[in-house]
Amino acid sequence: MVGSFSTLRVLIVGCGNIAGGFDERRPADALPLSHAGAYRRDGRFDIVGCIEPDAGRRAAFQAHWGIPHGYADFSAVPPSVTADIIAICAPTAFRSAHLEAAIARSPRLIFCEKPIAPTLHEARLWVERCAEAGIPLAINHTRRWAPDVARLRDELRQQYWGEIRSVTGTYNKGILNNGSHLVDAIRLLLDCTLEIEAVGAPQWDFWPDDPTVPALLRTDSGIPVHLTTAHAGDYALFELQLVTSAGVLVMEDGGLRWRIRRAGDSAHFAGYKALLAAEQVDGRYMEAMLHAAANLHDAVHHGAPLACTGASALVTQALCDDIREMATGRRKAAD
Ligand SMILES: NC(=O)c1ccc[n+]([C@@H]2O[C@H](COP(=O)([O-])OP(=O)(O)OC[C@H]3O[C@@H](n4cnc5c(N)ncnc54)[C@H](O)[C@@H]3O)[C@@H](O)[C@H]2O)c1
Repeated sequence: MVGSFSTLRVLIVGCGNIAGGFDERRPADALPLSHAGAYRRDGRFDIVGCIEPDAGRRAAFQAHWGIPHGYADFSAVPPSVTADIIAICAPTAFRSAHLEAAIARSPRLIFCEKPIAPTLHEARLWVERCAEAGIPLAINHTRRWAPDVARLRDELRQQYWGEIRSVTGTYNKGILNNGSHLVDAIRLLLDCTLEIEAVGAPQWDFWPDDPTVPALLRTDSGIPVHLTTAHAGDYALFELQLVTSAGVLVMEDGGLRWRIRRAGDSAHFAGYKALLAAEQVDGRYMEAMLHAAANLHDAVHHGAPLACTGASALVTQALCDDIREMATGRRKAAD
């Protein structure tokens, strides 16, 4: 497919884990968990260059993914190296510089890692700048591309699970970093706006500027949403429990598994309903990056809507920023 009319030229910024590292020690036929892995597996992308200041890492990345050109920074990329898609995968601290440089190169789409930028002010600015420049901006809230999450969203909308009674998400490693994935997944599944009712004490379990914070939120239709915390030093934890009138669904291990308990007649107490034995179902999180690549391709070539836009990610980031600022006493609930 490379060289065909539909092939999209990609420039990757930052050559770490999410750029490709997550896939470098996985079997070639494993579902991709990274940008480079997804572009390569899809087959309709050509990674024409990468930007990475660490020369050793850059060389290894180029060698592994067969990328012809590597640069230490954006200013070293000659104008002759053009890209349809610029994939921003460097540490969040460099986001503003990278988004500015990417916009200046007028790609057909920017695919940027989450969070959009370290501060809400910068995140707003760059979402606006992309819109002004007419460059579609996709943000990698990965679960938006997971087919099982999209299906559950549809089932919830169609009331297949009846009424949603409450939602509890458990996370660690920062409200802005991992918490934003959780909040974004809840916004997607419940198709709602969220208000903050209360926040708890912040716990600095990984990032110096991004504590993990417990919080109680409420959807516009009044569903309580609890965010509870774990400690990043123990193990990664990302779970989401939905209590509905028809049963309880739990996304486990970030979406690699689901545990489903349906309501039914109690085996022990006549006339009572209870939750029946749990059913374990494999999640489809592993397919998400491949679906993201396909979505980018369709967006560029056919104007398909992006599953996660800058505007949508900005709503998520604003909420996470409010939670962080309230928990650290920098903002009051009524602000
Ligand atoms: N969507 C997800 O699920 C997900 C998962 C992991 C990381 N992320 C996000 O991706 C980004 C990178 O995270 P990671 O875990 O891959 O980090 P990483 O540390 O593994 O990789 C970052 C790479 O960027 C390079 N780099 C540093 N400064 C740079 C610069 N100025 N220009 C270009 N490259 C530079 C580093 O040398 C490193 O190779 C972060 O914003 C993070 O929040 C998202």
